[in-house]
Amino acid sequence: MQRETELPFDTYVMNEKWQHRYISPVDYAKFHRQTLQDFETFWANVAREIEWFKPFEKVLDDSNPPFYKWYIGGRLNLSYLAVDRHVKTWRKNKVAIEWEGEPVDEDGNPTERRRLTYYDLYREVNRVAYMLKSNFGVKKGDRITLYLPMIPELPIVMLAAWRIGAITSVVFSGFSAEALADRINDARAKIVVTADGFWRRGRVVKLKEIVDMALEKVPVENVIVYSRLGLKDTPMTEGRDYWWHKAMRGVPINAYVEPEPVESEHPSFILYTSGTTGKPKGIVHDTGGWAVHAYATMKWVFDVRDEDIYWCTADIGWVTGHTYVVLGPLMVGATEVMYEGAPDYPQPDRWWSIVERYGVTILYTSPTAIRMFMRYGEEWPRRHDLSTLRIIHSVGEPINPEAWRWMYRVLGGEKTASASTWWMTETGGIVISHAPGLYLAPMKPGTNGPPLPGFEVDVFTEDGTPAPPGVKGYLVIKRPWPGMMHTIWGDPERYVKTYWSKFPNVFYAGDYAIKDQDGYIWVLGRADEVIKVAGHRLGTYELESALISHKAVAESAVVGVPDPIKGEVPIAFVTLKQGYQPGDELRKELRAHVRATIGPVAEPAQIFFVTKLPKTRSGKIMRRLLRAVATNAPLGDVTTLEDEASVEEAKKAYEELRAEVRGHE
Ligand code: WTA
Repeated sequence: MQRETELPFDTYVMNEKWQHRYISPVDYAKFHRQTLQDFETFWANVAREIEWFKPFEKVLDDSNPPFYKWYIGGRLNLSYLAVDRHVKTWRKNKVAIEWEGEPVDEDGNPTERRRLTYYDLYREVNRVAYMLKSNFGVKKGDRITLYLPMIPELPIVMLAAWRIGAITSVVFSGFSAEALADRINDARAKIVVTADGFWRRGRVVKLKEIVDMALEKVPVENVIVYSRLGLKDTPMTEGRDYWWHKAMRGVPINAYVEPEPVESEHPSFILYTSGTTGKPKGIVHDTGGWAVHAYATMKWVFDVRDEDIYWCTADIGWVTGHTYVVLGPLMVGATEVMYEGAPDYPQPDRWWSIVERYGVTILYTSPTAIRMFMRYGEEWPRRHDLSTLRIIHSVGEPINPEAWRWMYRVLGGEKTASASTWWMTETGGIVISHAPGLYLAPMKPGTNGPPLPGFEVDVFTEDGTPAPPGVKGYLVIKRPWPGMMHTIWGDPERYVKTYWSKFPNVFYAGDYAIKDQDGYIWVLGRADEVIKVAGHRLGTYELESALISHKAVAESAVVGVPDPIKGEVPIAFVTLKQGYQPGDELRKELRAHVRATIGPVAEPAQIFFVTKLPKTRSGKIMRRLLRAVATNAPLGDVTTLEDEASVEEAKKAYEELRAEVRGHE
């Protein structure tokens, strides 16, 4: 949510439970500065806490900026770090994953639960790696696209792929066939792993059918289908598609696949994310730097101990799930919860029943979820014992102070450490957050907190100088960091242009932010044509391309506008081709078309029909003006606007539709 108003800079929140970690903002800043003084030694020491097959010789190779490389000469394996290491210790029989499916019985209890120990994971990861290698010929460097729901097989197959040095490309199971096809194609994936279907809000989503639609456009060698629901009518193509359980039949129980000792800079995953063009970017991450970043932040930000029950509610299809459901918690040997379904199914207390059932101590979730639960009311969490919670953090979008307070008071009983952790797909892990695992500086509702140790963050004005405290500017990262992305898959130039060109030698995040007098950062929202819908990252250009691909649409402009629950929602202004009439039917059709092209998360909240879009004299659409129209904000500078009537028309279309909506309410 864009927050332009005055921020509650001085509203400190402290609680007695965390007195032992208390640090003043001044002392934290001093500590933080020290970690930057001998920056390479600092990151070398952190990296030595994880196990390397071959130690690194150099911490950072900065000979070819911005193509930085971390932990040169080091070799390691993520699957080894996540499972093998633990089975050599008492953690062998510790629960790694507590999973529950969505369906419930008449009493509201889950009908499907699975509990996997670290030894179970070890066995399965090895067996799947064996299957991938021997039945499907997967080797180091091959790309595997994973289109799976939130079931344990998703982390299992990711770890199995990393075991042999293959590169995963996970595609969120809420994306459409078209979005999936684009991603399979861009990554040139060899195989796709999917499931017959899964439960979402009491309904079956047939995943394999979507895969088949995608594969009409882009072929792959093989598809492996996990039978999550036992759907008998799942379409299978002879010679291409194989059931997971059948492919696993010949694999010995004690199969063992030697973990490939990959170079630190070997890619571990590609994850597609939205930018400012219609084409999603394949963000590429390495192995060593990412592992160090994930490991360190699990300790610093989540303070995870062996007795904790950790639950990150994110879907693995987004980066939060990669780092904080799969790699991070398993590397530190945590017990974690994984849940398949919708947060409010069958009732708005589903999540709170889960916290109570497993005794969750650390919760990592999103502002959108918090705001949704606020709307349902306090009585739902009050029905359950949430007293086990000691840390609750949020991620994905700015958290408004009211939502933070509600989370802290109603869910946390005013005894949790809570931060709004800032990071992005490109950073690989958390960059700005309180770090209660080290120290806890006073919390302030709505802030992201100070930068983590070893990260040099700043807010720049347009001319590339640091903005004074309290002044809005652009968020930048001034030095490389271990979990940083390495490139954009197949497009290194775009990597340089997008992130390293606005200001010389610093990473441009694309967010607006303010630094306060304590050095805390307040990220305000995106500074580019990217919007955050319920924490999901979407490019307005992608939505525009989707709209234009409909036969009736001539031009479209999409902007994000504030929404009380989802933070932001997209709205679209559309001009039609000759022969098409605006109307409710077409509006419905266009919304359905966007759902089908990108996925349900992208569906525009409103569609406005106009005869022209506001443009500059050189023909660029002025989205800024449309956003102003839709938020009742002042138009600002309009000197470059070609035709003022276009703004008047947009205003009229907006007001008419608002009046109509109000009429229905
Ligand atoms: C936004 C998600 C404010 C921000 C991990 C960023 C946030 C984008 C926060 C990246 C936060 C993420 N406060 N804004 N705590 N966390 N963002 O790649 O705009 O899906 O640039 O990564 O989310 O989104 P992504």
